Amino acid sequence: MSKNQDTLTVTDNRTGQTYELPIQDGAIRSMDLRQIKVSDDDFGLLAYDPAFKNTANARSEITYIDGDAGILRYRGYPIEQLAEQSTFLEVAYLLIHGELPTADELDSWVYEITHHTFIHENLKQFMDGFHHDAHPMGMLVSTVGALSTFYPEAKGLDDPDSRYMQIVRLIAKFPTLAAFAYRHSIGMRYAYPDNDLSFAGNFLNMMWKTTELKYEPDPVLEKAMDRLLIIHADHEQNCSTTTMRTIGSSDADPYSAAAGASAALYGPKHGGANEAVLRMLEEIGSPDNVADAVKRVKDGEYRLMGFGHRVYKNYDPRAKVIRELAHEVFEVTGKNPLIDIAVELERIALEDEYFVERKLYPNVDFYSGIIYQAMGFPTSMFPVLFAMGRIPGWLAHWQENLLDEEQAIARPRQLFVGYGERDYVDVANR
Ligand code: CMC
Repeated sequence: MSKNQDTLTVTDNRTGQTYELPIQDGAIRSMDLRQIKVSDDDFGLLAYDPAFKNTANARSEITYIDGDAGILRYRGYPIEQLAEQSTFLEVAYLLIHGELPTADELDSWVYEITHHTFIHENLKQFMDGFHHDAHPMGMLVSTVGALSTFYPEAKGLDDPDSRYMQIVRLIAKFPTLAAFAYRHSIGMRYAYPDNDLSFAGNFLNMMWKTTELKYEPDPVLEKAMDRLLIIHADHEQNCSTTTMRTIGSSDADPYSAAAGASAALYGPKHGGANEAVLRMLEEIGSPDNVADAVKRVKDGEYRLMGFGHRVYKNYDPRAKVIRELAHEVFEVTGKNPLIDIAVELERIALEDEYFVERKLYPNVDFYSGIIYQAMGFPTSMFPVLFAMGRIPGWLAHWQENLLDEEQAIARPRQLFVGYGERDYVDVANR
């Protein structure tokens, strides 16, 4: 009997019955398992996959990663080319629209973003209410969510013009919220956006402007900032993007969804890792202590932050770009001595059987913190910078999810392994 090649034949040994499941794009559909039952009243077979380690949650055209080969492409374009030749706003356009813009399209996109960087003055007062030592990422999560209350029309998800407007606003206002959060945390007057500057240059202006009438960013640091944003702009179905899609799937507005995605990014296993890397390097203190640190990691005392990735089982291509960028930045800022510890750590780890066996390589966070620190950013701002870069990616996925007719409200199943029914016991008798 000839069989369709693109199928999977499954025999249920409980019943002896055989099923043929279609394979499309290298996957079977979990819903096709539901027909596999032991009796008519059986719910049907489920796929159990904690942390979605082998579950595709979307058909996406945005970002391609080959983790074994260390390849990352946005809409087909290699990350190395985009980091070298493009700009963050052009990359944001590419992620959202699917194609690189023409010169006119790029001009009007840049104009729109540049002219939506201001935030409502009331939001500034909201920011003022935070405690003086509030973590800027906590402030960002809250104020991004608060944007939702200023733009109630954002709930009109079926209106493409409204969706577009919220996308522009979110990309434009993220740096303003980020810089204001920093200024609040150091008790400094907010610096307002300057429309004459580039996206990255304006962000540096809002971060660092003091008494000068016009802030002039250093061109090398401005370019480096822009490149750092590019390499963070998307990374397919990571924890925060999945959160963005999941919140968006309930038809919540994109500000609320972006607040949730930012919260997911805050954790030390995700966007908080670069902060953790710096703390770890400072604790190691000197290249001479690296061998001992590696031994302690192997003894299970702690994880080597900035190493390992769920998807990359090879050198993270973003880490390569950042490692090269570090030297350009140090030409301007002077060398950050932590780079010597990092390089030694990478050298020893990459030769060590523990790391080789587990395919643990430096990830994007390993070198980014060292550059950020050299540029003057405190460690608490690192996840904020990551979020600022990631917002176009989140928005591209949010929109793709909304427009995908196969998608519905995200609602996984569970395997219930708790008690069966039992009777309530009065507190006196427990
Ligand atoms: N240091 C030491 N051992 C590690 C590390 C590490 N950084 N990462 C993984 N391992 C070991 C882990 O102990 C396990 O060993 P064993 O098989 O003996 O139990 C094995 O490698 C597999 O680890 P896992 O936890 O099953 O892998 P995962 O895919 O679930 O975790 C990860 C991925 C990124 C959470 C993890 O590698 C990690 O915690 N790394 C440090 C934090 C970090 O740098 N995060 C930034 C990720 S990149 C930025 C982003 O996308 O957000």
